[in-house]
Amino acid sequence: MNIQTIENIVNKHQQQQGSLIAILSEIQATYSYLPTDALQAVSKMTGKSLIDIYGVATFYKYFSLQPRGKHLCSVCVGTACHVRGGEVIAEEFEGQLGVAAGQTTPDREFTLGKVACLGACALGPVAVVDGHYFSSVKKTDVKKILERARDGLDKVEVKTDQRIFPIDVSCPRCNHSLMDASHLVDGHPSIKVTTSFERTHGWVRLSCLWGSYTVESQPEIPLDTVVHFFCPHCHAELVTATSCADCGAGMVPMIVRQGGVIQICSRRGCKGHMLDLV
Ligand code: FES
Repeated sequence: MNIQTIENIVNKHQQQQGSLIAILSEIQATYSYLPTDALQAVSKMTGKSLIDIYGVATFYKYFSLQPRGKHLCSVCVGTACHVRGGEVIAEEFEGQLGVAAGQTTPDREFTLGKVACLGACALGPVAVVDGHYFSSVKKTDVKKILERARDGLDKVEVKTDQRIFPIDVSCPRCNHSLMDASHLVDGHPSIKVTTSFERTHGWVRLSCLWGSYTVESQPEIPLDTVVHFFCPHCHAELVTATSCADCGAGMVPMIVRQGGVIQICSRRGCKGHMLDLV
């Protein structure tokens, strides 16, 4: 743990609302877990009690107090995935990795977890490895998924991938289209979702062009604000267990009708978006 790194993180977020979560998220993104000495340093620098800091660190499942493996695998055993064999898939991951869910392999390569819902029920059984969705997973797919993770999954990020093409998305819960042809953004049908942040409710229209960050919202969302996104049809929150690799905020999943899942960072201004086409 580098004390200067912790100090920089604390200084960067201290003035923000919800600063403790942002601080812990960035520490976790840096070390892949929350080291004890880092939490003690945060306590000294912010004046918050260690008990309060541990309260937040243990309340959110996203945070880990134990070192985690290089690759994170989450297998969904929520109701929709369970009825399609999610438990069998989780057992296959356990067998292939030689550890139980919640554990890390001795070589620190993989940490395996079971989650209650990954926000893509229509595609179950679902597993997420290093932020990549694998849909309709079969027992025979597991070995290959782990091999691909070891080799490094080909993450498509806007930062490195400047392709611009339209995508057509739907709600991962009710599968209803989120496209609104009556309101164009970037000259194409917009993606419309409802939102809430800091007790304010409204809507957001996103460009459907992959590679474009054009966004319209009512009310205006201040930069750096973490926003909750909801389906305007079934009103389910669009949320997953995955966190943005860039800023630690939650990712917002949507089903790509051409096949696959798109995840966008819930923090206004962050460009940590990912697209997995299948
Ligand atoms: S139950 Fe598995 S993604 Fe929702």
